[in-house]
Amino acid sequence: MAVKTIEWKKDRVVMIDQRLLPQKEVYRVCRDYRAVAEAIRGMVIRGAPAIGVAAAMGVALGCLKAAEKSFDREFDRIVLCLSKTRPTAVNLFWALERMRKVYRENRDRGVEAVKRLLEEEALKIFREDIAANRQLGRFGAELLGNARHIMTHCNAGALATAGYGTALGVIRALKESGKEIEVWVNETRPLLQGARLTAWELKKEKIPATLITDNMAGYLMQKGAVDAVVVGCDRVAANGDVANKIGTYSVAVLAQRHGIPFYVAGPTSSIDINCPTGKEIPIEQRDPAEVSHIFGRALAPKGVKTLNPAFDVTPQDLISAIITEKGVIHPPYAQNIRSHVDH
Ligand code: MRU
Repeated sequence: MAVKTIEWKKDRVVMIDQRLLPQKEVYRVCRDYRAVAEAIRGMVIRGAPAIGVAAAMGVALGCLKAAEKSFDREFDRIVLCLSKTRPTAVNLFWALERMRKVYRENRDRGVEAVKRLLEEEALKIFREDIAANRQLGRFGAELLGNARHIMTHCNAGALATAGYGTALGVIRALKESGKEIEVWVNETRPLLQGARLTAWELKKEKIPATLITDNMAGYLMQKGAVDAVVVGCDRVAANGDVANKIGTYSVAVLAQRHGIPFYVAGPTSSIDINCPTGKEIPIEQRDPAEVSHIFGRALAPKGVKTLNPAFDVTPQDLISAIITEKGVIHPPYAQNIRSHVDH
């Protein structure tokens, strides 16, 4: 794997600091669960599946260091702390639930056994995510077929996952299958995950890519320069509405206007079957300074009012298909998502 997003090192968790990329490749060492929670909140690590993996490792790390006599209280405290970091990506809550299940089902085997099993579960979540991405990459490459010019938004690459990526997994798989492709990389204001992270990953992989500002997407589509759009997801509701990085909805509307297929790629851990529609997905509101400033430098007049929703919801009718490790979900989503997850 070209990029190591996160690593379990027995008594610590190490992650590449994504806030500093691509200028600096710095690895952060988290020695306790609070440091992992801070890293998720502060976006040292980001991207829905990567957040889930980090949360699982955070639980394992916290439990490893918990005293036997206060273990149960400490377990609840650790899970609560990690659950409060970011609200939109369902993978966080999905991973915490998996860890809670292991705890619940094995608590009577003693604290040492539970600690070991929690560590194993976190590593399992990590490995499964890479395998899921490789698998959905293959399904996606088949679906995209001969699409040559592909647009993506934000970063749904190796950095946003345990490895390989979701939307970038599809793009990688296309490349691996010998297809000639070119990627339009939307910069993705305000935090520039496209410009900083996607462009960096594609360059490392020698996949031809062109960086554009977000407001150039329509221009390119109108010129016939985009064959397909593929993006990741933070939460897929039961009816097929998808929350993803702010700006995704605008790209989907543009794609529909121009008759361009708009695909969403993500593991089934990003599907929230208990969330009926996009309206119920909590949208994280972040620091206004991310809009008024760039890399700490003010862009706007001091005191200007700003708004900073980190995600938006793309309604299901704008989505051509959803690609997971189990296959491709086509409309009607309300029916097909349920049978896909039950399968
Ligand atoms: O705020 P971020 O950087 O965590 O948002 C990331 C995204 O919106 C990604 O597109 C999504 O998590 C999918 S990552 C495989």
